[in-house]
Amino acid sequence: MALPQPMALNVVMLGPPGAGKGTQAERFARTHALPKISTGDILREAVQTGTGLGRAAKATMDAGELVGDEVMIGIVRERLERPDTRAGFVLDGFPRTVPQATALDTIMRGRGALVVVDIVVPEDVLLRRLAARRICGSCGVNALIEWTTTCGICGGALVTRTDDGVEIVRGRLKVYQRETRPIVEFYSGRPTFRVIDGNQPPDAVTAAMDRAICEASSESGAVKPGPVKEARL
Ligand code: AP5
Repeated sequence: MALPQPMALNVVMLGPPGAGKGTQAERFARTHALPKISTGDILREAVQTGTGLGRAAKATMDAGELVGDEVMIGIVRERLERPDTRAGFVLDGFPRTVPQATALDTIMRGRGALVVVDIVVPEDVLLRRLAARRICGSCGVNALIEWTTTCGICGGALVTRTDDGVEIVRGRLKVYQRETRPIVEFYSGRPTFRVIDGNQPPDAVTAAMDRAICEASSESGAVKPGPVKEARL
């Protein structure tokens, strides 16, 4: 008799700007060999390479506003059709509005449960983190603390992200409260929803996230993630 196929491990990272979604999505995806799908990274790459999407999205992103739902849903639907997502994925930055969350449920029909992790961090900490953030101007990665002027991966110069100015960040936090916070309510009644304290050292957040996702995925019948193999910011 054939064994039942395990369900995929489908993870969604929620949280305000600066909560650590990208940092933790990267770690979890790497450790568990899942593709990380970051809509912010997809858009920034499109801006950098000057595609039609990038040209259309640049001003909106620089202003800290959200790119339209239709465009974002199309990008994610297309990305989730690729075979590398069959065993699961880690979504960072999507969904961000109730229409995006509703569309994701439709895309996910027959693909197993979503494990949704909401990373919570006080606003003053978010403001400090984003004011201090530097990224690589070439490959876009968040700079590690030990990198002073150049990227430790590709050697590119470190720069400030164009939407990390103080006023833009305040605007992004307002947009988060208005547009994205309601999807926490959208998911919070589900058995696979978990809240994580993001105001602790990155390794502690990673460990808490791993525990929470492991527990939530057991309840959903999804693949149980294995132990954390490595972790660094
Ligand atoms: P996006 O790139 O998704 O930006 P964001 O949600 O504002 O998130 P950030 O990247 O600022 O923060 P994060 O939570 O990922 O934190 P990170 O790990 O980097 O989107 C950018 C723009 O694209 C949007 O404004 C919008 O215009 C558009 N967009 C994207 N998706 C969209 C969608 N679905 N719909 C519509 N528009 C969309 O960490 C931040 C800093 O803190 C880093 O320096 C990091 O090193 C540090 N840090 C992380 N964790 C810790 C910790 N535990 N302790 C101390 N420091 C830490």
